[in-house]
Amino acid sequence: MNLDELNKVARAMVAPGKGILAADESSGTIKKRFDAIGVESTEENRRDYRELMFRSTEAMKNHISGVILYDETIWQKAKDGTPLVKIIEQAGSIPGIKVDEGTKPLPNCPGEVITVGLDKLADRLTKYYEQGARFAKWRAVIDIGAPHVMPSYTCVHANAHALARYAALCQAAQIVPIVEPEVLMDGAHDIDRCFEVTRWMLKETFQELFHNRVALEGIVLKPNMAIAGKKSATRASVQEVAEKTVRMLKECVPAAVPGIAFLSGGQSDEEATAHLDAMNKIGNLPWALTFSYGRALQHAPQKAWSGKAENVAAAQRAFSHRAKMNGLAALGQWKADLEKKAA
Ligand code: 13P
Repeated sequence: MNLDELNKVARAMVAPGKGILAADESSGTIKKRFDAIGVESTEENRRDYRELMFRSTEAMKNHISGVILYDETIWQKAKDGTPLVKIIEQAGSIPGIKVDEGTKPLPNCPGEVITVGLDKLADRLTKYYEQGARFAKWRAVIDIGAPHVMPSYTCVHANAHALARYAALCQAAQIVPIVEPEVLMDGAHDIDRCFEVTRWMLKETFQELFHNRVALEGIVLKPNMAIAGKKSATRASVQEVAEKTVRMLKECVPAAVPGIAFLSGGQSDEEATAHLDAMNKIGNLPWALTFSYGRALQHAPQKAWSGKAENVAAAQRAFSHRAKMNGLAALGQWKADLEKKAA
């Protein structure tokens, strides 16, 4: 393993004013997104849609440091025959790959899941590296559920352990692991319960990373924010989300980690931007704080595109706008009226 090289890639992934586009929806998830805009989820439509984002040159050059791809996409060619990976690289962005194989029920822990895909991962990583991937992603899923029932210790521990095993395999293959322990926003819990569970999951994750000898200088952490569940009766303000998230991360994430790139997790586009901006406005942080959004970067372009070739330019404008807003938020320089001006 060449740690200097891993660290260089990790720092590029969280470079000032830039963040990551999570375009790694599995076939099942992208079908749900396409159903919502009335588009059939064929291989060609998935390619056309992703190609339009990767060809949004302004956004890709200035605001998107890297793109997380799904297995299908990393092997795909654009309409004109250029590999999609090449289009990403030509824009100065780094190709990455989702390598987990989704979740399975965790035995003896009703309602809980474990992320799978470690078997044969070493071989798959070698092939992905040859194909151009310089970072990878593995997502662990923690559901808070009813108060004090979930998550179980078994679920938190088993998922943290799998994340660390994955991260160690990635670094051995000269690939930067995005370590993603996601505590879901589903549920009626308040922000403090999310804070408590996320803190626990982060503590377990860093403990397991240590035991597996993962070099923290060569990872990027992708956590959820401390935020109330979608069904919670009490919404926390933007400032409260920012302050609690920063406090939680300062307690759990060593300064050796180059950067933290949040998932959006079901927040609205503007909420996800405002929260990231408010955290960076707090300032004086030991790591870069940026975005690795899927939904919060893609809602707008998906709607604008709606599967029609004549809407490609409008979809690219919508994507570029969100990328720019989040790029500003990564610097703590976003303002709500920039959204209104664009509308
Ligand atoms: P969301 O931003 O839509 O949560 O997706 C990010 C992601 O990569 C989840 O694994």
